[in-house]
Amino acid sequence: MKFTAEEQAMMDGRYGVGTQLAMRVLAAIGEAYDAPYMVPVTRTHVALSNQEADLWFAEKLVEGGAKCKIRPTVNPSFNWKEFHTITTLDNEDEAIVKRTHVAYNKLGAIMTYDCTPYLERNVPRFGEILSFSESSATPFVNSVYGARSNRESAQSALCSAITGVTPYYGFLLRENRAGNVLVHIEADMKDDFDYQMLGYLVPRKTGFAVPVFEGIMNPSKEALMNLGAQLNTGGNVALYHIIGFTPEARTLEEAFQGKQPQREVTVTRAELTAMREEISAPAGKIDFALYGCPHFTIDQVAVIAGLVKDKTLAVPLFIMTSSLTRNLAQKMGYMEILRQAGGRIVEDTCMDQPCWKFLYGKKGITDSPKCAYYTKRREMQFVIAPLEASVKAALKGRY
Ligand code: F3S
Repeated sequence: MKFTAEEQAMMDGRYGVGTQLAMRVLAAIGEAYDAPYMVPVTRTHVALSNQEADLWFAEKLVEGGAKCKIRPTVNPSFNWKEFHTITTLDNEDEAIVKRTHVAYNKLGAIMTYDCTPYLERNVPRFGEILSFSESSATPFVNSVYGARSNRESAQSALCSAITGVTPYYGFLLRENRAGNVLVHIEADMKDDFDYQMLGYLVPRKTGFAVPVFEGIMNPSKEALMNLGAQLNTGGNVALYHIIGFTPEARTLEEAFQGKQPQREVTVTRAELTAMREEISAPAGKIDFALYGCPHFTIDQVAVIAGLVKDKTLAVPLFIMTSSLTRNLAQKMGYMEILRQAGGRIVEDTCMDQPCWKFLYGKKGITDSPKCAYYTKRREMQFVIAPLEASVKAALKGRY
C-alpha cells in the first residue's frame, strides 16, 4: 500500500505505540483486501462489547497513548446503576463494564452507548466516507444515506477513529455498490414488523449480495432500522437499495449501475408468515416483554405508552433506548405512563449483555428477531410478534 507522509509517521511509531498499532491493523486489513491506499474518514462508530478480547485491545491502545482523532460514538453496554435497581449483578460483569467505560473514555470516544447513532448523534450525509461497526447501523448509513462504509469490526472502526483513515476497498468504491440481486416484493408491506421478517428472510434467497428491492413504498425510519438489523441477523448485508427510494437507486438502471441483475427472486406474504413461524417460540404464556433491538425511537416508545396508559401490565416490560430518547420520554410523560403500568425504559443497554441473567430460562415476547436470535445462546426464548400485538400480550401475560 502507498502511505502519505503522515500515515508513514504513524506506522513508524512517531505518534506513539498505540497509534502505531492502530495503523498496522489497518494496513494489514488493507493488504488483505488489496487496497491501494488509505482514505480519510469523517465519522466513526464503534460497537464496543464488554467482552475480554475487545477490552484487551482497547486497553492496549490506551497503554500505548492512543487518542481518537475522529471521535467515535459507541454501542450500548449496560447501565449498571440502573440494573442495580432491577436485579443483582455479578461483580465480574459489573467490573468489565466499568473497565470498558474507562478505556473508551480515555481513548476519547463519545460515550453515547446506543446502536442507532445514525438517527441522532452521528448522522452522515451522502457520499461521506465512514468507518462504522454495528451490523444494524452499517446498512442504514450505507443504504439510506448513501454514505460509504465497510461493515467494520469494533477493532477496525476504533483503529480508524484513532488514525483518521481507513483502507480504500469494498463498499467505499462506487463499482462495488452496484446491486447484484433483484428482489421483487409481492407481499403488501403493511407495517414496520413486516420489514423485520423481510430482513431475516432475504439473505436466505440472495446470499452474500447487494439486494435491490422493488415494490417497497415509503418505508418509515423504523421499518428501515428493522430491515437493516435483520438483514444482518439472517445474513450479512452491509448495503441494499430500494428502487425509487434510496439515494443510489432512483431507477433500476442506477441501482444496478447499468448492468443486468445476476438473479431475480420474489418475496410473498406466505413466505413472511412462514419465516415468523419458523423463528418464533410457540404462543402461550409469557414472562416478560423486551423491546429496543435496535434501540427504540421516541415514536416507538409513544406507541407502547399509548397502549399501556391507565392499564397494568401482567408481566414486566423493558424498552432499551438511547439516553436522549429516554430524556425525551421523561419530558413527554411517557416514562411516568410506563412506570405506572409496570414497564420501564433502560438507557445505554443492549440485550446481548449479561445484565439480563434474571430472565435466563424464561420466555419473553419481542418484535425483533435479532433480540430473539442473540438471546438463544443465553437460554431465553422469545415469541416474535408485531409491536402492538406483543404489548397487548404483555398486558395479558400470554400471546
Ligand atoms: Fe442494538 Fe444490541 Fe440489538 S447493539 S441492535 S440492542 S444486539
